[in-house]
Amino acid sequence: MKHKLAILGFGTVGQGICEILRDKEVYLKNKYDFEFDIVAVSDLHFGNVYNPQGLDINELLGKGSQKTPFSTDIKDWDNLSMIKDSNATTILELTYTDLETGGPAMEHCRVALGAGKNIVTSNKGPAALAYPEMKKIADENGAQFLIEGTVCAGTPVINLSDGPLAGCEISKIRGILNGTTNYMLSEMEKGVGYDEVLKIAQDKGYAEADPTGDVEGHDAQGKVTILANIVMGASLKVSDIPCKGITEIKSEDMDNARNNNKRWKLIGSVENNNGEVKGSVSPEMIDLSHPLAGVMGATNALTFTTDLLGDVTIVGPGAGKIETGFSILTDLLRINRS
Ligand SMILES: NC(=O)c1ccc[n+]([C@@H]2O[C@H](COP(=O)([O-])OP(=O)(O)OC[C@H]3O[C@@H](n4cnc5c(N)ncnc54)[C@H](OP(=O)(O)O)[C@@H]3O)[C@@H](O)[C@H]2O)c1
Repeated sequence: MKHKLAILGFGTVGQGICEILRDKEVYLKNKYDFEFDIVAVSDLHFGNVYNPQGLDINELLGKGSQKTPFSTDIKDWDNLSMIKDSNATTILELTYTDLETGGPAMEHCRVALGAGKNIVTSNKGPAALAYPEMKKIADENGAQFLIEGTVCAGTPVINLSDGPLAGCEISKIRGILNGTTNYMLSEMEKGVGYDEVLKIAQDKGYAEADPTGDVEGHDAQGKVTILANIVMGASLKVSDIPCKGITEIKSEDMDNARNNNKRWKLIGSVENNNGEVKGSVSPEMIDLSHPLAGVMGATNALTFTTDLLGDVTIVGPGAGKIETGFSILTDLLRINRS
């Protein structure tokens, strides 16, 4: 079967998955019998295009790199019409994350899943705020709601827990879920002050112009909610997760950690105690001997505590155009396998 793909949001991740699909088209066909057409793209800046036979990826990416609006295959419709009326079988929901309301992505996902179309997304909003609802609509309509990219970009976390770790009971997941703050803490350890390091993180593109979501822990809080609900089967709301960021960490705290052979990390944690699932986000001083202590810079890492394997730690990128684009590819291949 040839997958008919539609992309909602042609920013970093949208262009990343297009690049991967273009560059690996032959490999994906030969190795996985995965064939695709990108039939539609809808984006606030680039506009809406549709060709049921498949759009020209090079042309899409050319417009992406020039940041100029699409000029061929233009279609005058809105996102919901695109979802319902295009011949796409899978919608890649790659618009912005809104952890308070979910933003337009909520309706995009509801409408697509209701129409029996798969959703593959790196957008944390619908996954953190409404996973049970989305999964139910998906199941009722024979569609899939796949969200690997919402936690640690393409580093396999969601698929690890219900793929290779299936059969293990996972009692705890703890780790570094936000690359920006991990980079900032790594630099602060070298003696760079909070304000200066935040400015460097913004210049490097790690932190947004408004860094609140990262430094106050809300990004990690959304990811903890996703892990609690998906991996541990809980029904927690984002607001159920107590959350503290790194804004109050001072140079004295850094000295204190160093003097005690410890290191500050912003730790997201979710734990299942006899069926009661609780999560939290908070800075912690951890021993230098702990596997998470060696994870520096903008990297993410998670330790799964399991009954059959003990602790399993996975370390990898938590952001990036190709790294997050890969999360979309891995979910597309999952759909292909099924
Ligand atoms: N980048 C990463 O490394 C990364 C990692 C993990 C997860 N994510 C998540 O993946 C999603 C995409 O991230 P990104 O970095 O690609 O974001 P981005 O670069 O900001 O791209 C988002 C694109 O969506 C467009 N858009 C916004 N609202 C839209 C709407 N209602 N309809 C159509 N298009 C709309 C934006 O247009 P305008 O620019 O004109 O608003 C922009 O072109 C986000 O939810 C993000 O949190 C990203």
